[in-house]
Amino acid sequence: MQKGGWNIFMRKVLVINGPNLNLLGIREKGIYGDETLQDIAIKVNNTAKHLDIDIDFIQTNHEGEIIDKIHEARGKYEVIIINPGAYTHYSIAIRDAIKAVNIPAIEVHLSNIHSREEFRSKSVIAPVCVGQISGFGSDSYIAALYMVEPIIKKWGNNNG
Ligand code: DQA
Repeated sequence: MQKGGWNIFMRKVLVINGPNLNLLGIREKGIYGDETLQDIAIKVNNTAKHLDIDIDFIQTNHEGEIIDKIHEARGKYEVIIINPGAYTHYSIAIRDAIKAVNIPAIEVHLSNIHSREEFRSKSVIAPVCVGQISGFGSDSYIAALYMVEPIIKKWGNNNG
């Protein structure tokens, strides 16, 4: 059922990008590559259309704003895809927010956090997520999109 290009059966997914990801394309290119966050947003949107997923793609450098967005996701989104940036490694507050809203979440990373400094290999967020995809550059986001439908089928829609 089409509504001005928007299909009411489309899955709703919130993609949250945390601190410093606005500097992709400039920042540590040897690790994160040449793509800007805007490039990734376009790529994610194109794949999402193909999969009948409606995406909101956001970035913020502020922990509290990430938490607010997770709270506001209740009743609006069926799955959250999150790259928490450095908050991955220590934000119990973001972990608690994901747990609290009970929306299935997928943690993504451009780099392989397990092959870098030891402090990066620990994620405090991953245990409250359905899973973690790490090390495939922007394709980590694409892989996560392909998991949206299976996750909703398996976990049900806890939305609202
Ligand atoms: C990152 C990995 C984190 O350790 C780092 O702090 C980032 C980016 C990634 O996508 O590879 O900011 O989340």
